[in-house]
Amino acid sequence: MSIVPWSDRTVLELATRGWTILRDFLPPEIVSELREEAIRGIADNHFHEAGIGRGSDHEVENAIRGDKILWLDPGEATPAQQAYWRAIEDLQLDLNRGLFLSLVSCEAQFAVYGPGAFYKTHVDRFEANDERMISFTLYLNDAWRPEDGGALRLHVEGGPVDVLPAAGTMVVFRSDSVPHEVLVSTRERYSLTGWFMRRSLRVVE
Ligand code: OGA
Ligand code: MN
Repeated sequence: MSIVPWSDRTVLELATRGWTILRDFLPPEIVSELREEAIRGIADNHFHEAGIGRGSDHEVENAIRGDKILWLDPGEATPAQQAYWRAIEDLQLDLNRGLFLSLVSCEAQFAVYGPGAFYKTHVDRFEANDERMISFTLYLNDAWRPEDGGALRLHVEGGPVDVLPAAGTMVVFRSDSVPHEVLVSTRERYSLTGWFMRRSLRVVE
């Protein structure tokens, strides 16, 4: 078994209510480095406007989501990104063991929300592709305050839960059944969002 201290609670909360929060998922210096990489990526114009849907369904729709994204290339990982992928692999192993899942791969992207940007309520699994099982977002923002907005709002049983996008906070939830939205942010909001995937059970043409 992995020695990560969070595994038991993470597994239990995902199994019983479909979402969990991990504080200090990575050391602060790695989180700062990842934020710097996002800022450099924006400055170098490597980000592009995020869309909705996948494949032929894909479209950019600013009334639904207003962030810019940059996919991580695991083959070109910086030292900070290597630390991120190692922690993600540990988490994937824990979830496979603890929840009897068959997560076979993952993908992740930087996302930046400028002032005024938001993402309306949605679930992460696509209609035409059922590979996405578990969503995870790591926040990279130093000294985030509630009045800065930009909370992730999970629409879950018992009422909405707001997660502040503070540096080091990682939120993990089911991709198929947890509606969520990003509230309007008043300052630049940096994050790394990824998905654990299974082999598709559906035939997709
Ligand atoms: C997403 C998403 C949440 C967040 O990218 O699908 O819902 O808090 N992101 O950035
Ligand atoms: Mn989402």
